[in-house]
Amino acid sequence: MFESLGPMPPDSILGLMEAFREDLRPGKIDLGVGVYKDAKGDTPVLSAVKKAETLRLENEATKSYIGPAGAAGYNAAVQELVFGRDASSALDDRISVAQTPGGCGALRIAAEFIVRCRENAVVHVPDPTWANHVPLLGDAGLEIREYPYLDRATNGLRFDAMASYLGKLGPNDLVLLHGCCHNPCGADLDPSQWQAVLELAQDRGFTPFVDLAYQGFGDGLEEDAFGVRCLAEGLPELIVATSCSKNFGLYRERTGSIALLSANAKTESITRSQLLNVIRGIYSMPPAHGSAIVETILGDAALRSEWESELGEMRDRINGLRSLLVERFAARGDGGRFAFIERQRGMFSFLGITPEQVNRLREEHALYMVESSRINVAGASTDNVDALCDAVMSVL
Ligand code: LMR
Repeated sequence: MFESLGPMPPDSILGLMEAFREDLRPGKIDLGVGVYKDAKGDTPVLSAVKKAETLRLENEATKSYIGPAGAAGYNAAVQELVFGRDASSALDDRISVAQTPGGCGALRIAAEFIVRCRENAVVHVPDPTWANHVPLLGDAGLEIREYPYLDRATNGLRFDAMASYLGKLGPNDLVLLHGCCHNPCGADLDPSQWQAVLELAQDRGFTPFVDLAYQGFGDGLEEDAFGVRCLAEGLPELIVATSCSKNFGLYRERTGSIALLSANAKTESITRSQLLNVIRGIYSMPPAHGSAIVETILGDAALRSEWESELGEMRDRINGLRSLLVERFAARGDGGRFAFIERQRGMFSFLGITPEQVNRLREEHALYMVESSRINVAGASTDNVDALCDAVMSVL
């Protein structure tokens, strides 16, 4: 039976990890997969995480099943982090939250839930979007279409075109929005644009579906949740997928959550039962370790403050690297071509070069980035920035 299948090409992002590892050239630079790197190029375990893990090891009393919803304490803490303390309690009887294996688990569970609501629902994703959105949502059976988002000439948003596209949608449609730190282009909606999306959703009846994978990596924990909170305040229904991979550095622990906002408490109890049933039929229940770390950190004032300051350091380093890249490109006479990097947020920006130029950078300069020319800004450093800018300028 198995011989009926052909091989799949390597994943466009994860394939780069393997290729980079096997490259033995000294001075190689990794701007590929989206993991945070410090000034030495390492992705260390956060100190608050290490401490929470130690506490967990000492205090863990059982390895019994955790249940499809995951840990109640984690779910409550994440709900508050995402929706804000006041809104979270005001919306409490309308929100169903479940812990998921990473943000990917949340996206897939959401897709399966949507299929149960409406088999022929269409999910509209931004052009561009994270490559894995398409299989995560599409393989559940949902139709995927693209809405205009990035203006590749200015590296800002085509917001008028986006708004006019959304203005034609209706109740059968879902609109996937990146809550902050857009992956792959780093260009985000501003508060007035979030407000405009809210009004369009109210007017047209489509359901926003927010992927919030980088809360705290853009401008701050509160600032980065603006969009989600704005939509939650004004809409009857909302879907939010979150991840603790980046902001807690828990990548391999697969720690995320799905939040479904229902129109009222009665619908919420049905939503919750459906959500748990979807989870039970796919992976039954999530792993416990990552969520226990997050719950411990968010529930302890000292650990929480240590985590917030470590998160702030990661954010400041990335934003500092954005300025450094712009300055070093300018010093090489880029004529302002890369000035947009400083205006964007999160780990990623698009350099706007061709796949051929990306391949030349890999082959001739051992500089790795995704074929779309997405760079992980955190992969730059004061040690490699000059080599990085020289290499990019040489292929223009
Ligand atoms: C990325 O976009 O590089 C990360 O989110 C890792 C992944 O799974 O693609």
